[in-house]
Amino acid sequence: MTERNDADFHWPARDALETWTTPERLARIDAVLRKRIVSITTVFEDVFDPHNIAAGLRTSEGYGLHDIHVIQNQFGIRSNSTVAKSADQWLEIHAHSSTIAGVKALKEQGFSIWVSDLQATQALTEMPLDPRVALVVGNAKVGISEEMRALADRRYILPMYGMVQSFNLSVALAISLEQLVPRRRAELGGWGDMPMARMWPLRQRWLEFGQRHPEALRRGVQQENQ
Ligand SMILES: C[S@@+](CC[C@H](N)C(=O)[O-])C[C@H]1O[C@@H](n2cnc3c(N)ncnc32)[C@H](O)[C@@H]1O
Repeated sequence: MTERNDADFHWPARDALETWTTPERLARIDAVLRKRIVSITTVFEDVFDPHNIAAGLRTSEGYGLHDIHVIQNQFGIRSNSTVAKSADQWLEIHAHSSTIAGVKALKEQGFSIWVSDLQATQALTEMPLDPRVALVVGNAKVGISEEMRALADRRYILPMYGMVQSFNLSVALAISLEQLVPRRRAELGGWGDMPMARMWPLRQRWLEFGQRHPEALRRGVQQENQ
């Protein structure tokens, strides 16, 4: 388990926009960034319902994930803003034109492809935690594609005990994240794993949200300090 102490953590510099941010918002931004997880990512394979995508984005962001991959074999990304609650503004969404292209990109980044699949037999909780995990959920009508099944490193089933045959895909994602993310957080001593090289520019961007002229504010503070 990697223990990281508060006292060990420092941002590389002071951002002038901190002056224009309330202490509460600054503390929130910093806490969220430090708990951001990039070694787990959500993948939607050809999901067409904007409500499901939006619910999945919101849940992924709520669990502290940052990167979302959308495979668009037939369906482009459409998200319902009422359901998403602006989750997308805090996430990085990567689009891929096909299952093969998406899986190739993820594998090149070192991700194991874990596919939630009604035809699988192994439970997610029995699977050893790979260093980087891409959790794939499939289309509401046809489920996971045969291509994705063939490319998967692991396939898992979420056990069901009722008469219905499947969970809604955003619910399946939420259950999967609950079974997976706490295991990773425990390994990380409760912290996230986003490298500083990503966290720092992201923090600069998040500090700009809601500011009309962030660059002018930054210049003003720098001039005052000269
Ligand atoms: C509504 S289900 C798809 C049902 C589709 N008729 C099928 O046969 O796969 C949408 C997606 O949610 C995920 N899912 C739903 N229930 C699941 C379960 N019990 N175990 C694993 N994945 C599940 C899968 O990724 C699935 O492709």
